[in-house]
Amino acid sequence: MRKLVFATNNPNKIQEVNSILGDRFELLSLEDIQCFEDIPEDWDTLEENARQKSDYVVEHFGLNCFADDSGLEVEALNNEPGVYSARYSGSRDMDRNIQLLLENLKDHSNKKARFRTVISLHMDGANYLFEGIVEGVIIDELKGDGGFGYDPIFIPNGYDKTFAQMTPDEKNSISHRAIAVSKLVDFLGQ
Ligand code: IMP
Repeated sequence: MRKLVFATNNPNKIQEVNSILGDRFELLSLEDIQCFEDIPEDWDTLEENARQKSDYVVEHFGLNCFADDSGLEVEALNNEPGVYSARYSGSRDMDRNIQLLLENLKDHSNKKARFRTVISLHMDGANYLFEGIVEGVIIDELKGDGGFGYDPIFIPNGYDKTFAQMTPDEKNSISHRAIAVSKLVDFLGQ
């Protein structure tokens, strides 16, 4: 079986991809390859950060690798917080990040937003990018207690509940990450 690193230590992400990939690849996490250093993410786009992470593993560990980077892009806020989603308020405290976003958006009538995931695959010397997008709107109060991050204030188009009010299976079947992952898996299956 061919080895393929997923540059993450998030067991949920590994599990999600593994269940779709089947036994075509041996999927390895950063921990599996004993990569314990902080991989730099110096850029200001999802594409460049994802690519930096996948290139880093290839250069330092000599294994094919893919990496993901995601963010929430709010139209009226010039697509902020985007690549800065995890630390929008200057901290990783999601309550503060959500409050800042709601504060910045409160005087705008345009509530459109989208979650976007970019996956960078560095395989056999070539680079590939896969993108997943879910369009929706931001609501001004938190609803639901599932999921993570900005889920309680995001309603995807065509639904009347937030990501945080969905079951994990329901969210995973339509999420930006699932769309990008399925493009990656289609490519790997070719
Ligand atoms: P990551 O690249 O998957 O680590 O995502 C970066 C940040 O974007 C997270 O810390 C969250 O704040 C936000 N984010 C990404 N995906 C989601 C999601 O599915 N729901 C809510 N927030 C998300």
